[in-house]
Amino acid sequence: SDNLVIALDGPAASGKGTLAKKIAGHFGLPHLDTGLLYRAVGRGVLDQGKDPGDTAAAAAVAAALDVSALDEDRLRGAEMGEAASRVAAIPAVRAALFELQRAFAARPGGAVLDGRDIGTVICPDATVKIFVTATPEVRAERRFKELKGRGESIAFDDVLADIRRRDERDSSRSAAPLVAAADAHLLDTTTLDIDAAFQTALGIIGRR
Ligand code: C5P
Repeated sequence: SDNLVIALDGPAASGKGTLAKKIAGHFGLPHLDTGLLYRAVGRGVLDQGKDPGDTAAAAAVAAALDVSALDEDRLRGAEMGEAASRVAAIPAVRAALFELQRAFAARPGGAVLDGRDIGTVICPDATVKIFVTATPEVRAERRFKELKGRGESIAFDDVLADIRRRDERDSSRSAAPLVAAADAHLLDTTTLDIDAAFQTALGIIGRR
C-alpha cells in the first residue's frame, strides 16, 4: 500500500520521541508516543494506591485506558518512567495495549509510532524502521536537562542510574524486549544534535 508507517524504537532519552514528532510534522502524519500508554497505566495503578508490579491491577487499568485523555505533562516525570517500565514487563498489559496501537498504525495515509517494540511486535511490516541509540551518559544528560526544565529537583547520578535500570529491565524482559528489528536502520545520536539526527532520519526514510 502507499501507507507510510514509520517505526522508531530505542532506549529512554535516545531522542526518538523528538525525532518522531519532527518526522510526523514533516510528512503530515499522526504520531503516537507509545511510552505514554505505559506511563498512563503506571500512573493509574499508583493512583489506586497499588504497586506497578501488581499484574491484575495493571492489566485492568490497561484494558480500561482512555487514550483520548492522556495528560502528557503529568506523565513525563521521572517517577512515571520507572512505573511505566515495570507495568510494561507484564504481558497482559502489553496485550491490552496491542490493538489500539495497531489501529493507530493502520490509519489511512500512515502514521509515526515510537516506543520499544514498534518495529518488532506492533508494526513488523512498517515502511521504515529506525532504531535510535545514544550512550547512557549522553541520554542521562538530555533527560537531566529535560527534568530540570520541568522544575524537578533531581541529581544527575540518579537520572543516570534510572536510565541504566530501565535499559536493563526493558532489554531483559521476556515480553517484547527492547531490541532492534533485524531490518531496522541504526541511528546513533550520541554526537548528533536534534537537527542533525532529523536530517539523518530523513535520509534513511528517503532511501527506503
Ligand atoms: O519511552 P518512555 O520512556 O516514555 O517509555 C516508558 C517505559 O514504557 C519504557 O521504559 C518501557 O518500559 C515502556 N515502553 C514499552 N514499549 C513501548 C513504549 C514504552 O515497553 N512501545
